[in-house]
Amino acid sequence: MKKIVIIGASSGIGMRVATDFARLGWRVGIAARREELLKTIKDQYPDRIEYMGLDVTAPDAVERFYKLIEMIDGMDILLYAAGCGWYNPELRLTDDIRAVAVNVAGFTSIVNAAYRYYKETANVHRGRIAVITSVAGVKGIGISAAYSASKRYQWTYLQALDQLAHQQHVNVGITDIRPGFVRTDLIKDDPHDLPMVMSLDYVAPRIERAILLGRRIATIDSRWAVVTGLWRLVPPCLWKHIGLDL
Ligand SMILES: NC(=O)c1ccc[n+]([C@@H]2O[C@H](COP(=O)([O-])OP(=O)(O)OC[C@H]3O[C@@H](n4cnc5c(N)ncnc54)[C@H](OP(=O)(O)O)[C@@H]3O)[C@@H](O)[C@H]2O)c1
Repeated sequence: MKKIVIIGASSGIGMRVATDFARLGWRVGIAARREELLKTIKDQYPDRIEYMGLDVTAPDAVERFYKLIEMIDGMDILLYAAGCGWYNPELRLTDDIRAVAVNVAGFTSIVNAAYRYYKETANVHRGRIAVITSVAGVKGIGISAAYSASKRYQWTYLQALDQLAHQQHVNVGITDIRPGFVRTDLIKDDPHDLPMVMSLDYVAPRIERAILLGRRIATIDSRWAVVTGLWRLVPPCLWKHIGLDL
């Protein structure tokens, strides 16, 4: 039986992908801080899902992550779906620091630990590290400075790991999944009428396909790939004039 560990599975994208993989017959290890939510997800597939309360910013995050891998007897795929970010034109420092703690430091702890796990164990079966990053990494976004910067960090770290795995002959593939807006708790407090918001029903199968096909980078969806392709072409002197109304 194939095994996937999903960090950030108590709600939103991570929760949806976890139940989809369990329905497909995979063993699924899920983690996040809200254990009561994780338990209700396990109750849907008690034989296939195990859970672990885990805060990616806590000193014991890696230890708990490794314990969860043991609980499902291995890990073919890690999906890192934990994340936070805020509409923050006021630059509230606590929120910026929180985004960095989860999306940069927490991400690094878990993804680094997954790479080392595969370096030691995945000689025969290919492992995979997949991360839900975001299209937001393409440029600095004024109203979400720390969030957009943290997503760019994730893109770069994953690119580096892909190169390192090649250099060190580590049998692990890297998948960077970059969705546009998805209707989840993450954007529920945003005061704007956000454009091109996608449902979980629409996004989840596209994410799962990207992981299973071993895509290196998947922008979800093609409309967002076009929009962000255009963003890349905008020079800094023009970019600063573009943005959502405050
Ligand atoms: N929604 C969008 O529009 C959108 C677009 C592009 C990318 N993304 C990315 O997709 C990922 C998933 O977000 P979502 O939209 O599914 O939002 P969500 O429903 O808020 O899910 C976020 C998940 O991260 C977990 N998490 C947050 N802080 C954590 C911590 N310190 N330790 C462990 N887990 C933590 C949460 O669990 P607990 O609170 O229980 O810990 C929750 O399970 C994020 O990285 C986000 O940046 C979202």
